[in-house]
Formats: sequence, C-alpha cells, structure tokens
Amino acid sequence: MEMRDLLWIGVAVILLVDVDVWGQDPGTYHLTTSMNSSTDGDSGPSSPRSQQIKNVVVQNVTVNLGSDVNLTCGEKNWSETLYVLWKINLKHRSCDITREQDSPTVDKCNDRKQLLNATGSTSYLRVPHVSLDDVGIYTCESAFNGGNNKHVFNVTVTVPPEPSAWLEHRSNKMVAVCRAERGKPAANISWSFDTVSPSVDYHDTSDGFISVVSSLELAEDTNIENLICVITHPYWVKGVVLVPEVKKGYFFWLFICIGVIVGVILVVFAFFVQRKIMLTRRANTCDTSLSKFPSTEYVEEVEPYASYVQRVNSIYN
Ligand SMILES: *[C@@H]1O[C@H](CO)[C@@H](O)[C@H](O)[C@H]1NC(C)=O
Ligand SMILES: *[C@@H]1O[C@H](CO)[C@@H](O)[C@H](O)[C@H]1NC(C)=O
Ligand SMILES: *[C@@H]1O[C@H](CO)[C@@H](O)[C@H](O)[C@H]1NC(C)=O
Ligand SMILES: *[C@@H]1O[C@H](CO)[C@@H](O)[C@H](O)[C@H]1NC(C)=O
Ligand SMILES: *[C@@H]1O[C@H](CO)[C@@H](O)[C@H](O)[C@H]1NC(C)=O
Ligand SMILES: *[C@@H]1O[C@H](CO)[C@@H](O)[C@H](O)[C@H]1NC(C)=O
Ligand SMILES: *[C@@H]1O[C@H](CO)[C@@H](O)[C@H](O)[C@H]1NC(C)=O
Repeated sequence: MEMRDLLWIGVAVILLVDVDVWGQDPGTYHLTTSMNSSTDGDSGPSSPRSQQIKNVVVQNVTVNLGSDVNLTCGEKNWSETLYVLWKINLKHRSCDITREQDSPTVDKCNDRKQLLNATGSTSYLRVPHVSLDDVGIYTCESAFNGGNNKHVFNVTVTVPPEPSAWLEHRSNKMVAVCRAERGKPAANISWSFDTVSPSVDYHDTSDGFISVVSSLELAEDTNIENLICVITHPYWVKGVVLVPEVKKGYFFWLFICIGVIVGVILVVFAFFVQRKIMLTRRANTCDTSLSKFPSTEYVEEVEPYASYVQRVNSIYN
C-alpha cells in the first residue's frame, strides 16, 4: 500500500519536472501523457501511453482585435487521429478542450472557442471575435497511429491606436504634436517635414498598450500649410493621415461660452419684440373689427367706465 502511494508521488513529481522541461526545451520532452496521471480509473484516451513527441511546431499568431482565427493542429485527417488535446493558457485562466476518436468533444473552456472539422476532416480550433481575453498560449497535442504532433501557438492581439494631432505654442515656438494612443503594438508616426527630426515619447501601460507621441518643433516662420503626420499600425492596411490644427485652448472655449450667452439673450429679446409686435397688431385688428361691427353690449359696458373716468378727472382737476 505504501509502496503504491510512493509510486504515485514519484509519477506526479516526474510529471511536474517534465512540464518544466517542456517549457524550456519542448523538442526533447518525453511525453508520459498527462492524461493518465491522476487516477487508476482510466478516463484518458486509449492512446499509446508513452511516446516521444517528434514534431513540435511553435508559431506566433497575431490577430486583429475583433476578427476570427482558426488554429490548425497538424495536417492529419481526423479519421487517423486518436485524440486532440488543446491546452489553453490565458492571462486569467487555463482550460482545455479534448476530443477523442469516437467520443464527443469535451470543452472545459465553455466560451466562444470551438473545435471544428475542416473539409478533408482535419480539426481546428476556431476563436471568433478575438478579444484581449483570448491572448495566451494555445498548445495542441494530437496523436495518431504511428506518431504525434505538438503545436504551440502564441496568440497576441493587435489593437489599433486612437489617433489625434494638433498645434500648440510652447515658449514662443510652434509645436506640432501627433499622438497614437493605446495601441498594441506601438504605432509608427512620421511627418511630411523631414528638415526637423521629431522627439518621440512612448508610454507603456501595464496591460501592454503603448501610446506614442511625436512632437515637431517648428520655427515661427515655417509654412505649416502642407504639414501632415502619418500614423501607421499593423491593424490598418493604410496609414492614417492627420493635419495638425491649432488646439482650441481656454480662450476658444471662453469665446464659445460668451457666444452662446449672447445668442440666448438675442433669441429671448427677439422673442419679446416679436410678441410685442404681434400683440400690437392683434390690438389693431381688434380695433378695426370693433369699429366695423360695433357691439352694442361693448359700448354700453364701456360708457359707464368712461363717464366714471371723466368724473374722477374732473374731481382731481
Ligand atoms: C499510464 O497508465 C497505464 C495503465 O493504464 C500504466 O501502465 C502506465 O504506467 C501509466 N503511465 C504513467 C506515466 O503513469
Ligand atoms: C515569436 O515572437 C517572439 C517575440 O517577438 C520571438 O522572440 C520568437 O522568435 C518568435 N517565434 C517564432 C516561431 O516566430
Ligand atoms: C475559420 O473557419 C470558419 C469556418 O468555421 C471560416 O468561415 C472562416 O473564414 C475561417 N477564418 C479564417 C481566418 O480562416
Ligand atoms: C468531426 O468529425 C468526426 C469524425 O468524422 C466526428 O466524430 C465529429 O462529431 C465531428 N465533429 C463536429 C463538430 O462536426
Ligand atoms: C480524410 O479522410 C476522408 C475519409 O475518411 C477522406 O475522404 C479525405 O479525403 C481525407 N482527407 C485527407 C486530407 O486525407
Ligand atoms: C509570445 O509572444 C510575445 C510577443 O509576440 C512574446 O513577448 C512572448 O515571450 C511569447 N511567449 C512565448 C511563450 O513564446
Ligand atoms: C516607421 O515608418 C518609417 C517610414 O515609413 C520607417 O522608415 C521606419 O522604419 C518605421 N519605424 C518603425 C519602428 O516601424
């Protein structure tokens, strides 16, 4: 009993060591198959248990944010494949997807990733709408009669930067600034002026985004009419062209505010003027209509008041 336990501990140690070795030198990794390490109950695939991995392919895969990627693990036809195991190590989690011959796919990732059959029956892992959460190491091991394959895909995502450009005054100098914010990898900024060389600043964030700011100091008399900056980035097929314009500073917004206030006052004033005109007009039309069609009632009602006013006036006079 004790011997057996010791044996299992030994096996576990060997496996751990193997995983470490694999990280450094995948070519010489001796596959003792991680799948029959845990229990006596044989839940692993009925594949040859101990074999040398002959072909290890390492590949860097860069995907544009939001697009799809298909990772193909070997060229072997599924009908010849005994099992396919995808080990996925992402930044925040790890999971795996397995398929053995004649059994359904076991997907422990439970996200958008899918193991699919291609035409010709090779299998591939499809990752749709790649996001930053999909960045990681995707390792695929497959075994077939007479051999096995291992593919390591290092998946990174390309994120386009936010471009902007402006002109500003810095101690009596005009400075043209072109900025590509939070891109992955860093963008490349170039200027249409090659007489002055720009100063370039890179700001890295912990999540791997890089902001690039390129500043071009211009002499006061420089003709900036044709000044443009071009931002190139792997995400874009073409460069993004920007024309730097004078940055709208404090005074711009002050003027905007004053303009808005004056505008509102004018509108209110115009409204009252118009209302007054309308009222006068209406009074005039009333007068004429009244004179045209005099109502006896109205006359009777007005007359006592008029005589009252006359009387009051006479008293005061
Ligand atoms: C794997 O399991 C088989 C029996 O199912 C056993 O003979 C073999 O020694 C095991 N390999 C390891 C590395 O545990
Ligand atoms: C993958 O990218 C890393 C870093 O850019 C590089 O060092 C490595 O050689 C690349 N590997 C392959 C197989 O292209
Ligand atoms: C990936 O495979 C799907 C079919 O499952 C296909 O529609 C898509 O075009 C493929 N994408 C790439 C980038 O090959
Ligand atoms: C892929 O093909 C295999 C063998 O033909 C089959 O067992 C499996 O169900 C298929 N999987 C999918 C997702 O179509
Ligand atoms: C894979 O096997 C199927 C039959 O099982 C066959 O029709 C197909 O042509 C084979 N594809 C390749 C690439 O060998
Ligand atoms: C994956 O690629 C990135 C850059 O492309 C590199 O920094 C990283 O070291 C690579 N990781 C592995 C395990 O190759
Ligand atoms: C940036 O673009 C310029 C002009 O296209 C090119 O000469 C330069 O090598 C690029 N730099 C980087 C880091 O890609």
